[in-house]
Amino acid sequence: MEGILKEGAEGLEEFEGSVLDAAMIASAQRVEHYEMAAYGTVCAFAELLERNDDLGLLKETLEEEKKADEKLTQISETVNQNAMDEFSEDGERAESTDEEGTEQRSSNRKQPSRSRKSRAA
Ligand SMILES: [Fe+2]
Repeated sequence: MEGILKEGAEGLEEFEGSVLDAAMIASAQRVEHYEMAAYGTVCAFAELLERNDDLGLLKETLEEEKKADEKLTQISETVNQNAMDEFSEDGERAESTDEEGTEQRSSNRKQPSRSRKSRAA
């Protein structure tokens, strides 16, 4: 879990705009899937041990995790499309024009001076 959270924090430093939104949802879904795996496992253990009171609560919690994941999937459909709309195939934001009609291109990655890799170098 600590690794998943650390990976998510790296996305906060690396991306911005809709791509950041998509990265945050992807990270949140990793957390939910981890939790689903853990609760699924302890449900199986509780069943084997015939701990029916515990099993009921654990199954309830597992369902809550699944619902959270489904909600994130619903949100991601819009967010991921927004990120795709902003991002062209070469990793740059889609072209736009400024007030004078000059084409503008900018990356969805934060400037190198703010990324982890450039700080480490
Ligand atoms: Fe959760």
